[in-house]
Amino acid sequence: MGRVIAIANQKGGVGKTTTSINLSAALGEAGKKVLVIDTDPQGNTTSGLGLDENEIENTIYELLIGEITTDEAITKEVAKNVDIIPSNVNLAAVEIELIDADDKEFILRNAISNVKDNYDFIIIDCPPSLSMLTVNAMTTANTVLVPIQCEYYALEGLSQLLYTVNLVKERLNPELEMEGIVFTMFDSRTNLSLQVVENVKEHIEENVYKTIIPRNIRLAEAPSYGMPINQYEPKSAGAEAYRLLAKEVINRKFD
Ligand SMILES: Nc1ncnc2c1ncn2[C@@H]1O[C@H](COP(=O)(O)OP(=O)(O)O)[C@@H](O)[C@H]1O
Ligand SMILES: [Mg+2]
Repeated sequence: MGRVIAIANQKGGVGKTTTSINLSAALGEAGKKVLVIDTDPQGNTTSGLGLDENEIENTIYELLIGEITTDEAITKEVAKNVDIIPSNVNLAAVEIELIDADDKEFILRNAISNVKDNYDFIIIDCPPSLSMLTVNAMTTANTVLVPIQCEYYALEGLSQLLYTVNLVKERLNPELEMEGIVFTMFDSRTNLSLQVVENVKEHIEENVYKTIIPRNIRLAEAPSYGMPINQYEPKSAGAEAYRLLAKEVINRKFD
């Protein structure tokens, strides 16, 4: 059975989307069958994997409001072994449209239940909020992976996020576990990055991935070419880091 990983942090700009795209591509490269689900109305995972979010018609939005089937919502093979349920700005309206829906915390889970077994990993990129979309991602997920940017305010908001994960676990998804923390945008030229890593480790009890994603300009460039890093610059430090992270994720055991 596959594992569903929600990539969440209500802070914007911490590397959720970069991690969704490149962890998925690295898992695909390692031979795993992957489905990426973009649940951010900004659609950056969608465009970063080469789809034009203004052109696509079958998105997560149509799926959530019940207009299309799961199979129709999936765009196949946007990278090696990687399929996607894309997103665009239409998704922004979904919270209001579904305000009276039954079981509205479980719409995504119900929608993808029939394709779950086709994949080794399902990676859900969350929006930068603790909204209904993020709750839907967490009820669908087996685990939550939290990217943390190596900057001064790294710990800010983290306890709120962990509290939300626990609340979802207690009330909606008892199986939910913490996948772990991934440090992103590590800058080896400054002491600050190192201090942040040490400081966060001191304050949390969650699993921390050994792989630290460096600040790497190629990772920032790749989305404008619509390619994951392993395709855009396969030998870059960023590509190597996401390969190592994928290996760790594959080997991570849960009881
Ligand atoms: N490791 C990295 N090195 C360099 N730039 C990065 C790295 N990770 C993310 N970025 C850049 O930082 C910005 C925010 O990253 P993003 O993944 O979009 O964050 P989020 O999805 O959490 O908002 C983007 O412009 C992205 O290209
Ligand atoms: Mg994002």
